[in-house]
Amino acid sequence: MKKILRTLAGEKTSKPPIWIMRQAGRYLPEYRQIRANAKNFLDLCYNPKLASEITLQPIKRFGFDASIIFSDILVIPDALGIKVNFVKGEGPKLEKISQEEDLLRLKLGNIENHLAPIFENISLVKNGLNDKTALIGFSGSPWTISTYMIEGGGSKNFEKSRGLAISNPEFMKKLSDILVEVISEYLIKQIESGVEIVKLFDSWAGILPENEFTKWVIKPNKKIIAKVKERYPEIPVILFTKGAGILYENVAREIDCECLAIDQNVSLNWAREILQKKYGRVVQGNLDNILLANGSAEEVQSQTQKILRELGDHSFIFNLGHGILPHTPIKNVEALLKLIH
Ligand code: CP3
Repeated sequence: MKKILRTLAGEKTSKPPIWIMRQAGRYLPEYRQIRANAKNFLDLCYNPKLASEITLQPIKRFGFDASIIFSDILVIPDALGIKVNFVKGEGPKLEKISQEEDLLRLKLGNIENHLAPIFENISLVKNGLNDKTALIGFSGSPWTISTYMIEGGGSKNFEKSRGLAISNPEFMKKLSDILVEVISEYLIKQIESGVEIVKLFDSWAGILPENEFTKWVIKPNKKIIAKVKERYPEIPVILFTKGAGILYENVAREIDCECLAIDQNVSLNWAREILQKKYGRVVQGNLDNILLANGSAEEVQSQTQKILRELGDHSFIFNLGHGILPHTPIKNVEALLKLIH
């Protein structure tokens, strides 16, 4: 069995499997070359030939234990009929939604057709992959996708989305329920196209206080995972509730998934004692992406060693705490891999 699948099954391997979030991206010259010829980022995601080539770039260069399909969490609003644009230097821009009428316009039956190129990308990658590397599919989680739909893009303080969740919880619940349905369908179709692991990105989970965290993070992710597991109980699930702090314990207590991905702010000692030992979960993480981008190769190796000492005695997948940054030196990634291997 592939190493990362053994780890997700609870086995402890002598060296941990490794992959990195956003491993196919702008820090790679071969990615920048393809990117330079594409007008629009989403066009690349919907081009199976190029997207599969990009997906495999970091595998060819570094030989990671997992490949993650090259796509984006914002293909879900795009499939729902909300216009999504990636504006250079500004990040994603979306048509905003704020009331129940906006939900009536969402195209709910569109996942299979609109996202067909992504399923084709998955089949192409699966065929091009060696027998050591597992293929990860993913989706954004309802809360995180909702914030982009309500704010109309990224946000610093999330005032609109957090405000609306409090002033109009009926609207938020309807939006969240819609996203639970389409995300479950999307993940199931990814599995049917060939992915061997699925990951949910709840990147803005950490901005919610506990009672709302329960409503908008715990409950929807739990429902999606239950729906996926009802159909495909053997497919392992990684859940990334970034920034959840000690609410990661609530996630472990309430949600039945194999692996919790932790950001760089989670204490290693706490992650071992609570997530690995008390709840028996596989932990994935959590090297600081800023350290990887700006530290020396020695500093990267020294922090990597520390993570291995603290988490390496139990089931563990090495990764960063958040996506790799565009200015990260390749030599730092090589130093990291040298130490892990
Ligand atoms: O991990 C991987 O390699 C798989 C591909 C992947 C991308 N985005 C590719 C991408 C994944 C898993 C994502 C997830 C994603 N996208 C998240 C959740 C994870 C996280 O980082 O918190 C979020 C919040 C997004 C939304 C998004 N997409 C943002 C905020 C941006 C940055 C805009 C920018 O210009 O930097 C993107 C764009 C994006 N997604 C890029 C890549 C490689 C860069 C686009 C480019 O090449 O111009």
